[in-house]
Amino acid sequence: MIPQCNPKASYLAHRQEIDAAITRVLESGWYILGKEVAAFETEFADYIGIPHAIGVASGTDAIELALRVCGIGQGDVVATVSHTAVATVSAICRTGATPVFVDIGEDFLMLPSSLSEVMRMMHPQKPKVIIVVHLYGQVADMSAILDLANEHGIKVIEDCAQAHGASLQGRQAGSWGDMGCFSFYPTKNLGAFGDGGAVVTRKDESVEKLRSLRQYGWRKRYISDDNGVNSRLDELQAAVLRVKLKYLDTDNQKRREIAAFYRDRMKDSPLDLPVENTDVEHVYHQFVIQTSDRGLLADRLKANGVATSIHYPAAVHQQTAYSNKAYRPLALPITEKIIPKILSLPIFPEMTTDCVIDVNNAILSAIGRR
Ligand SMILES: Cc1ncc(COP(=O)(O)O)c(C=O)c1O
Repeated sequence: MIPQCNPKASYLAHRQEIDAAITRVLESGWYILGKEVAAFETEFADYIGIPHAIGVASGTDAIELALRVCGIGQGDVVATVSHTAVATVSAICRTGATPVFVDIGEDFLMLPSSLSEVMRMMHPQKPKVIIVVHLYGQVADMSAILDLANEHGIKVIEDCAQAHGASLQGRQAGSWGDMGCFSFYPTKNLGAFGDGGAVVTRKDESVEKLRSLRQYGWRKRYISDDNGVNSRLDELQAAVLRVKLKYLDTDNQKRREIAAFYRDRMKDSPLDLPVENTDVEHVYHQFVIQTSDRGLLADRLKANGVATSIHYPAAVHQQTAYSNKAYRPLALPITEKIIPKILSLPIFPEMTTDCVIDVNNAILSAIGRR
């Protein structure tokens, strides 16, 4: 079976370096927030092109802590999309704030005109922060979103959990807003072998607050100024991430090549291919097609040895946990239209050319084009 993603392959591709990094940590005798985390934070911030990165325990924590640094808490409203991992919304709810949902465009990303409408309709209880999600590896229309945010005097957090190394007009995801939040879950473009996350920011004043919040709100050891959490990146994950960061650009390039191949071979098929915006370096965390016969296509692919996945089978506002916890002043027609049609095809940097050809052939045969 050709898997839809394959984190083990990324271990095998760099096994010697990763084993050496893990041994180095084990032998160091220091396992949490040490030299490896500090070095990774510097290297990752340099990579994003921003002064600071703060390692935390997950992408969800990164978003929650970034929101708390923006002063978000009980009674506040945060605007985001409903077509995202539930984690984006779970982080908002954990601060005590209420999410308000904005629709997406055909590119699966936040639609500035819908955001503008939500801002107008929520007045005077308007959102204090916008969380933009760079879903599937493509950066949203940050210029338009930042213009709106500036007009209303509110902050922007980028959810970059699926967009490590993606850029817009040559500027990296995570470097546009007030803060950028990353996940290093194993299947991400930059994945650890466990949980991990980071917040990046150019704001010096946010750094100490983030460092304090991730460790019980400590101002100094055992002395807490804030009600913080335990959300530390560990040394093992940081050491692994330092190895994998060196290969992120080449890995993203391989994802782009696989996407280009799919795109070229499927261009005359009845499948809707993902929209790639101009000015964007898409890093194809996922290659998501749309078809009204999704179930049939997925079954036929499975029968031919090709695994697929659905990111995600329900929008957040359609899920029991969140349906009554969020504002939805607007209908979300594009979100609701795409949900039953989306299907994620196999894409990961270690996919061989033969595998990519096999997936393509299986798809063409499943839709009767071969
Ligand atoms: C868009 C998005 N936001 C947030 C997260 C949360 O990251 P984590 O699983 O590391 O908490 C994820 C990962 O699943 C994600 O894909």
